Amino acid sequence: MTLSFDRRLSENPASPERRAEILAAPAFGTIFTDHMAVVDYSEEKGWHNARIEPYGPISLDPAAAVFHYGQEIFEGLKAYKNAEGTVGLFRPEANAERLRRSAERLMMADLPVDIFVDACRELVDVEAEWIPTGPGESLYLRPFMIATEAFLGIRPSKTYTFCVIASPAGNYFGGDVRPVKIWVEREYARAGRGGTGAAKCGGNYASSLKPQVLAAQKGCDQVVYLDPLNDNAIEELGGMNVFFVVDGDTLVTPALSGSILEGITRSSILTLAAEKGLAVEERKVTLDEFRELAASGRVSEVFACGTAAVVTPIGALYDGDDVIGDPDAPAGPVTQQIREELLGIQTGAVEDRHGWVTRV
Ligand code: PLP
Ligand code: COI
Repeated sequence: MTLSFDRRLSENPASPERRAEILAAPAFGTIFTDHMAVVDYSEEKGWHNARIEPYGPISLDPAAAVFHYGQEIFEGLKAYKNAEGTVGLFRPEANAERLRRSAERLMMADLPVDIFVDACRELVDVEAEWIPTGPGESLYLRPFMIATEAFLGIRPSKTYTFCVIASPAGNYFGGDVRPVKIWVEREYARAGRGGTGAAKCGGNYASSLKPQVLAAQKGCDQVVYLDPLNDNAIEELGGMNVFFVVDGDTLVTPALSGSILEGITRSSILTLAAEKGLAVEERKVTLDEFRELAASGRVSEVFACGTAAVVTPIGALYDGDDVIGDPDAPAGPVTQQIREELLGIQTGAVEDRHGWVTRV
């Protein structure tokens, strides 16, 4: 199903000088472009009123379900401009499919893949001048859906709004890519069995804020969650999946457990690594096993991956006072190769063998 997007362009866009100043040093998620894509849903009309409109506040009834019961889901994907100025989106259909799975879990309206992809394309088409082109830079898109019905009974909303906003993005962790420090979380969980961990919904991130803040107070950049009901199996970070390089030639990542988000970067890396001749294993890795592998020198590299993080080396894991790894170790060769290959495909420097880039 497709819709045509009305273009209601801003009368007050950022000046070229202001935009150039922002693009000279993009941060992550702090500045937004001039427009947003918006589509409404009601049971009577289905998805309708697709439009590109000036970026700005959304007016909602204070009783709207999103404010009370957290019926909200989102996605994250990036648009890159290649050396010839052609703009591409990385695997938008995969994000659209994941949003559909999240919607199904949160009992929200099913958004057809074409409407999701068209909303992203239309917005990026209007905002092409906002795409930074420095190493690792992109235009980060944040599609999201909120429940808008004003009703306090606990049941799924009957109306929704889907929106896409865009923000020029540099490195998620700020500055140049550097090895990050990870806190091993033994007290809090971001998701539990039967919960919403496999969905990308705001509530998962709300529950991750306390452990994230506590970890930051201890000097760490992110938290790694364990599954205490499954032998402390390593799950994922608050906003990224995790990989280990074992014996130099095997890439290991925790298997999807139902409480881990199925990362699109994760799945792309599994494909690229297998093509490079690395063995790939999606399996249960307990903290004890990881500790033993690390102690015997068999884990040579650990890295985080996600749309925002791309591929970010992990220097050390902090389990209380115990430090596993070397916080100052530079990124290892496998981490570097995978990061370069993935960014190369995203930016058009490496051939897109899998048809992952959708041209805008
Ligand atoms: N895990 C969590 C909890 C995330 O928030 C993200 C980011 O989107 C990921 C993993 C990585 O997913 P993707 O590679 O699709 O961005
Ligand atoms: C993304 O990578 O798109 C996310 O949503 C994760 C977050 C750390 C920004």
